[in-house]
Amino acid sequence: MLNRPRRNRRSPAIRSLLRETTLTPDQLVLPLFLVEGEEVEEEVASLPGTFRRSADHLLDFVGESMELGLKSFILFPGVAGEHKDKTASYGYQPGNFYLKTAAAIKDQYPDCCLISDVAMDPYSSDGHDGLVRDGRILNDETLPILCEMALAQARAGFDYLGPSDMMDGRVQALREALDEEGFTETGILSYTAKYASAFYGPFRDALDSAPREDANIPKDKKTYQMDPANKREALREAELDELEGADLLMVKPALHYLDVIHLLREESPLPIAAYHVSGECAMLLAAARNGWLAYEQAMPEALLSLRRAGADVILTYFAYDYARMYKDGLLGV
Ligand code: PBG
Repeated sequence: MLNRPRRNRRSPAIRSLLRETTLTPDQLVLPLFLVEGEEVEEEVASLPGTFRRSADHLLDFVGESMELGLKSFILFPGVAGEHKDKTASYGYQPGNFYLKTAAAIKDQYPDCCLISDVAMDPYSSDGHDGLVRDGRILNDETLPILCEMALAQARAGFDYLGPSDMMDGRVQALREALDEEGFTETGILSYTAKYASAFYGPFRDALDSAPREDANIPKDKKTYQMDPANKREALREAELDELEGADLLMVKPALHYLDVIHLLREESPLPIAAYHVSGECAMLLAAARNGWLAYEQAMPEALLSLRRAGADVILTYFAYDYARMYKDGLLGV
């Protein structure tokens, strides 16, 4: 036998020497769920290990995460029903708890990279990412609302804004609105290929942001989020986002869309992010809690597969655990 591939797998030293793909906390973004109030720290029932926190606890948690080596965070608000309306006006109300807490995070931890969420759903009484009228999601009428929200977030000091709404033309609308107000440094992380996925369930539980049940409200997001059957369409979205001025492109969900991550990595010069979404994390956690999977091995393997597919950046609820294992030297052995 001339070729024995096993020679290159003989020892931990050789395996680490020849490892093609690596993942460090540098590439991870930790999602954070913020709620109003004080002393709140509630575990999300469908996503064990992830908490809804009030600003006081959240600030401490950001500090702890940074000590583990995490530097990037994406912040989502859980908004009380009384603040929600059809136009998501609370989303750009000056000094709302989301904007205030973002400013406090950047003030206390100026070295972190803080990413926002631009979409109507957390603030919308209809639970949609766009404006609903006569049973339809209006595109162009949603854009000015997203721009208001984006400007308020830029003023609060976010490093990147994350439009997760999938309205057409929103990246350009945001870019122009930001530049006009002098926010040329504020970046845009675009949810480029966001699919109408069943894997967002725990997230919608955490934020109470599912579409409202009403005969006049579309019950799903399929007229704006992409069809899970489509791949070429992701290229079209990527081209548009590049032209419209996006700084990073994102694929979401991640584990079930490795081919799409790979495609965008091949086709675009921009950094590609992958959002390992709540339901994808919940699956693994559920199996681990049942004793069916070993979390400490399955979790890093799942994240590594995203890097191997071509993700430059990974958003995952496992970022904290991964960073802890990384610090403790438990990875790649
Ligand atoms: C909505 C938004 C969703 C997620 C991020 N932003 C849910 C949705 O589109 O309904 C899901 C993230 C996750 O499941 O972890 N703007």
